[in-house]
Amino acid sequence: MRYMESSYAIREIHAEEILDSRGNPTLSVTVATKNSRATFGVPAGASTGKHEAKELRDGDKRRFRGLGVTRAVRNVNTVIRRKLIGKDVGNQAEIDALLCKLDGTPDKRRLGANALIGVSIACAKAAAAASGTKPYKLLAKNSGTKPHTPLLYLNLINAGKHASSYLAFQEYMIVPLTDSVERALVMADAIRAELKREVIKRYGPFSGNYGDEGGFVIHGKKVAEPLEILTRIITKLKLRGKVMLAIDAAADSFYANGKYAVDGKKLTAGQLLALYESLIRKYPMISIEDPFYEDDFSSFAKLLKRNPKIKVIGDDLTVTNPKRFARALKEKSISGIIIKPNQIGTLSESLEVMRMANRNRISCVVSHRSGETNDDFIADLAYAFGTFGLKAGAPNRGERLAKYNRLWEISEKS
Ligand code: PGA
Ligand code: ZN
Repeated sequence: MRYMESSYAIREIHAEEILDSRGNPTLSVTVATKNSRATFGVPAGASTGKHEAKELRDGDKRRFRGLGVTRAVRNVNTVIRRKLIGKDVGNQAEIDALLCKLDGTPDKRRLGANALIGVSIACAKAAAAASGTKPYKLLAKNSGTKPHTPLLYLNLINAGKHASSYLAFQEYMIVPLTDSVERALVMADAIRAELKREVIKRYGPFSGNYGDEGGFVIHGKKVAEPLEILTRIITKLKLRGKVMLAIDAAADSFYANGKYAVDGKKLTAGQLLALYESLIRKYPMISIEDPFYEDDFSSFAKLLKRNPKIKVIGDDLTVTNPKRFARALKEKSISGIIIKPNQIGTLSESLEVMRMANRNRISCVVSHRSGETNDDFIADLAYAFGTFGLKAGAPNRGERLAKYNRLWEISEKS
């Protein structure tokens, strides 16, 4: 009998270097079977947690400031390609286990987490294409989850490591309380238009410019100012109760030697906790992400215990890592967790964290990175699991809109 090539067998894997939204090199990985082909563009963080899986970068200062990824590209096109050709593209667990084994290090530094996640998600997308379905449908089928539209976490003011400003907190987000993407985007548009007028009036014309994730970069001096402005706009537009506020403090980026540098002062963890509580009292906050530095599980727990109504979300704390997440659960540090597949390096491990979250009633917020590509897979991932949130920056830059437009399409237009 003649050998028949299965339509799920991986026929080709190919990586190349492209540039991300900050102009830094990253990988584009394509996986093909007999009659399907899919590509994934790998994102990259700026305020990366120290416990994240490690990207492999060339380090050759003469080329892209040392940020080239030609070694990671080569790893995909040689060792990884050789190992995966012929494997079943639909068997994500087997593919990801092989990738981890091939790398052999706990943090994926040998082949590069950027190389691994590129292959892992390109396979997931190719598997969907091979079975003539959409990624979210295949993800939901394989995980037994029910697709549902997440809340949008729209980042309207950028600071911290994503902008050049005086503000310590990295992200100021609005969260429209609706499961209609269209309604959320309409509210976001009204708030953004009003916000632009307000920040230019208050701080001058340069505050109408954008940071890494498309939010305004304002000339304010105090971390409370953006919350105050956004609250006033929400009230003025009669959206109180319909739109909440969220921050990602990314506290690691202003922490040094036991103190937090905020508003020109050096605060202890206790003083920072008091500051968060004053913000929670004054403004309609739904969640705070990374309120303390990335190993302070107990301060997270204290904030959550004293303020059970708001979500305390781990990002740099948990880095989409089942072990870090298990510790956060044990110490009752969080009620929400950021899911960024490139933090851990394979899709299967990210799905494991999402399943753990579901079992433990912890809310997932699937997230982009500050350095993004035009890929839209995370919208499918969030929708497939019906996660609490999807965080993809401001609704006004191509690489951010790719995610929101995809979510809009799959949840309301198909
Ligand atoms: P990063 O920021 O992608 O630069 O790490 C995003 C975040 O901290 O949530
Ligand atoms: Zn974060």
